[in-house]
Amino acid sequence: MCGIVGYIGRDRAGSVMVDGLKRLEYRGYDSSGVAVWTEEGIKQTKRTGRVAELEAALGDDLGGTLGISHTRWATHGDVTEANAHPHTSSDGKIALVHNGVIENYVGMKTFLTEKGYTFQSQTDTEALCNLIAYHYAKEPEVAGKNRFLESVRKSLRHVEGTYGIAALCTDCPGELIGARKGSPLILGLGEGENILASDANALTHCTRNVVYLEDNEVVHLTDDDFSITTVSSKSVEAVIHQVDWDTSEAELGDYDHFMQKEIFEQPTSLENGMRGRFSDDGSTAVFGGLNLNSQELRQVDRILFLACGTAWHSCLVAEYLIERFARIPVEVEYASEFRYRNAPLDKNTLVIAISQSGETIDTLGALREAKRKGYRTLAINNSVGSTIARESDGGIYQHAGPEIGVASTKAFTSQIMICAMLALYLGRLRDLSYGDGVAIVKALKKVPAQVEEILKQNEKIATVAKKYASYEDCLFLGRQLMFPIALEGALKLKEISYIHAEGYPAAEMKHGPIALISEDCPSVFLATSGEVFSKSLANAQEVKARKGKVICIASEGCDIPEGLADDTILVPECHEIVQPILMTIPIQLFSYHVALERGCDVDKPRNLAKSVTVE
Ligand code: AGP
Repeated sequence: MCGIVGYIGRDRAGSVMVDGLKRLEYRGYDSSGVAVWTEEGIKQTKRTGRVAELEAALGDDLGGTLGISHTRWATHGDVTEANAHPHTSSDGKIALVHNGVIENYVGMKTFLTEKGYTFQSQTDTEALCNLIAYHYAKEPEVAGKNRFLESVRKSLRHVEGTYGIAALCTDCPGELIGARKGSPLILGLGEGENILASDANALTHCTRNVVYLEDNEVVHLTDDDFSITTVSSKSVEAVIHQVDWDTSEAELGDYDHFMQKEIFEQPTSLENGMRGRFSDDGSTAVFGGLNLNSQELRQVDRILFLACGTAWHSCLVAEYLIERFARIPVEVEYASEFRYRNAPLDKNTLVIAISQSGETIDTLGALREAKRKGYRTLAINNSVGSTIARESDGGIYQHAGPEIGVASTKAFTSQIMICAMLALYLGRLRDLSYGDGVAIVKALKKVPAQVEEILKQNEKIATVAKKYASYEDCLFLGRQLMFPIALEGALKLKEISYIHAEGYPAAEMKHGPIALISEDCPSVFLATSGEVFSKSLANAQEVKARKGKVICIASEGCDIPEGLADDTILVPECHEIVQPILMTIPIQLFSYHVALERGCDVDKPRNLAKSVTVE
C-alpha cells in the first residue's frame, strides 16, 4: 500500500523522510519520491524501484525544514517516475502525496484543463494537486483565514473516494497540511518538529507522541504547533496517544527476512496474546475490552465474522471452534462482499471484524455497514489505535507485535489463538463444562512450547520444500478444522512463491479438483488425529493412485500407511482446539523455503501490499 511521510521542523527533512519511507517499505510499493521546500521552489526527486534507489539519487542532500514523501503502490497509471509521487501542480505552487483512490478525478482533470492546468502523469493524485492550486489561486487573502488551508479544505470537499494526503505550498515555508478519509494518517509530535505518516512505524524513531486522524479531518502543522479541523472547517479536539510497543520489534535483528523472524516469534507472540487472559480458576478466558457483559453475550444468537485474506481464514477457524465449543451459529463473509450485499441479519447478531492492520478498507467498510444497521461490533486486531479498533464497539488486541512481512504469519496464529479463547469464553457462558474449560486452558497454555518444538524442524522442512520448489501447481487439502488451514497454506505459497496453489476440503477432490492431479501437481494433506483422519488418508490414497506426490502434515502418533506419503512432517499431539495453530507452523515454513528456493522476495512479494487501503 502507498506510504506517506511528511516533515516540518529542523533542517533534516530529507533524512527523516527517507528513514520513514524505509520503515514503510513492508507495505508494498513500486516507486518512491520526496519533495522539499527550498527558496528556489519545490525540489522533487522520484525513482521507480526500491527506496534505496531514491536514497542514492538524493546522496547527501537530506536537509530541508519542510518536505513530503511517498512510496507508491500503483492504482491509476503505470509504474513510472512521472506517475510516482509527490506531484507538483502545473503552476508550481503546490506539492502533494496521496494514498487512496479519487473516483471523480477524470471530471476534475477536464475542469482543470479548461482552466489552463496541465498534467504530466496518469494519476488521480495530480488532479487533486492541481485542484488545490486552482482554489489557492482563487482564494483571497483574508485576515484570520489561512489561504493554503482553506484551499485544501475546499478541494477535499469535491473529492469522491478515499485519501490520506500531505501537502505543501511554495508560499508557505512554515506550514504542512495533512488530511484523511479512508486511508490512515498519523501525526507524530516531536521537539521542534512534527511528522505526518501513514502508520506509526514510520515515525517512532522520532517521537512516540501521536494523534490518529479520523476520517474527514484536516491537520495544519507548523514546526511547534498543530490544529485539527474537519473538512467543513469545524475545529476538532486532538487526543494524544503514546506508541507503547518497542520500535526494535519492527526491526530485522539477526534474521534474514521479516517473514522468517515473525514465524520464529510465534512462541512469544502467542504467549503475549494469552497473557492475563485466563480466569483465576483456570476454566475460561477473560477479555477486558469486549464492552459486552455476560448477559448480553448470552443473548447473542448468531455471530458474523468479516475479514479479508488470511484474516478471513482465521474467521473460518473461529466458525468451527465457536460452533463446536459454544454452540453459537457462525457465519463468515468476505468483507468486500458483505458491504454491498445487504444481507438480512437479525438483531441478536454480533459482528466481529478480524484485521491485523486494522486499516483494510474492505473490512472497515463492512464494519461501518454493520454499524449503520445497528449491529454490535467487535474487532480482533493487531494494531493499537487503528481505525477498525477505534470504530468498533469493543474488541480484543492480539498483542502479537508489529508484523512487517507482507505474508501474514504470527498475526494469523495469534488470531486463531484468540478465536479459540473466545470460543472457550463464550462456551463457558453457556454449556461448556468446567472440566472441559480447564482442559482447554491447559491445552492453550502448552501451545508456545509446542510451537517451539515444531520450529526445530525448520531444516527438515526446508529440505522437503526444496524438493517441491520447481512445481508450478500445488493443492492443499484438509477436512473440518484443517480446511481453513489448507486455504491458508495455499495463500501463503501463492503469495510469496507465485506457485498456483489452491486449498480445498479434502473430500472435495472427487468433485473436480482431482482432475488436476498428475506428477506435476503435488498435494499437501493436513491430517490431524480424530474422526476424519482415516478419511483424509483415503483422499491421499486417491491422489497417490493417480501419481500425485503427497506431502503429509500429521499429528504425531497417527498411523500413516507405508508408501502413502512422499514426505511427512509431524506435529505434537494436542487438544483439537489448538490443532489449527500447530498445523499452521509447517505450512508457513514450507512456503517460506519454497519461495527462497525460487529466489522470490519473501518480505515484499510482487504486486502485494501489507495493508490494502484501496478497494
Ligand atoms: C496475508 O498473508 C495477506 N498479506 C493478506 O491476505 C492479508 O491477510 C489481508 O490483506 C488482510 O489484512 P488485515 O488482516 O490487515 O486486514
